[in-house]
Amino acid sequence: MLSAEELDRFHDVELDGWRRLAAGYAQHLADLMSQAIDPLLDAAGVAAGMHVLDLCCGPGHASDAIRRRGGTPLGLDFAPEMVALAQQKWPGLAFEVGDAENLKQPDQSCDAVAMNFGLLHLARPEAAMRHIARVLRPGGRFAFTVWATPADSIGHRIMLGALNAHGTMEVGLPAGPPLFRFADPQECTVLFAAAGLTDMTFNKLQLRLDVPAPDGLFEAYTAGAVRIAIILARQAPEALAKIRAAARAASAEYEQDGTLGIPMTAVLVSGRRP
Ligand SMILES: C[S@@+](CC[C@H](N)C(=O)[O-])C[C@H]1O[C@@H](n2cnc3c(N)ncnc32)[C@H](O)[C@@H]1O
Repeated sequence: MLSAEELDRFHDVELDGWRRLAAGYAQHLADLMSQAIDPLLDAAGVAAGMHVLDLCCGPGHASDAIRRRGGTPLGLDFAPEMVALAQQKWPGLAFEVGDAENLKQPDQSCDAVAMNFGLLHLARPEAAMRHIARVLRPGGRFAFTVWATPADSIGHRIMLGALNAHGTMEVGLPAGPPLFRFADPQECTVLFAAAGLTDMTFNKLQLRLDVPAPDGLFEAYTAGAVRIAIILARQAPEALAKIRAAARAASAEYEQDGTLGIPMTAVLVSGRRP
């Protein structure tokens, strides 16, 4: 059990990381995560006329997809740099700086809530869930995506394998919730039940990270995968060179015509406020 101070430190490191790496994430990883948006919005039951909260909105692709379905999105992210990117990319849509762990939206003000690859970054996911259940109208759905475990997802398996083989995970980062906690359906069941959400669904999605060979996988993680990017940045130079070489060697089999197509598996979970 982590103390309140540890959770605060973890939250602040994540916030600082997303502020610094907002542009890198948007350039290297947002297209990958965007592949999950349509199934995510289907699971959240997003349809025309709905007011939908796009939590942890990043550069705002899900908000745009909500608009294309005829809904009214509000994109919320705690990193002002992400909100600025979203506002620049999608003028006319509403984006605000806000913390998923402490939502200011009124009770029952949303028809649906969607969170694409946000929950795994929260210091206090249970607090976020209480707010999500509060702001949903009765019958409204919440859906989120997170990454499947490395055993299931090749990009993470390659990068974390290279890090464990040639570097160290002990780089002085504050302890936080396990990165792959919600890849476990049992953890999701407990989380949803505690927030009072019912009718949980749990599915996997196959995505693909397309990046230039030979080092695109390493570069994408270095540029925009906050927790892993920070761990990579704190390796000794010789270790980092070995990690890069190992990631290059392991991703070579996914190369076609100069592009690496790295399979990545996500988990999609949804539930309903009764
Ligand atoms: C992996 S990115 C996903 C962005 C976007 N949903 C997408 O699909 O491209 C995670 C986002 O969550 C945001 N985030 C992390 N913790 C947050 C919190 N406590 N409150 C609001 N946003 C948060 C980060 O700033 C970042 O933009």
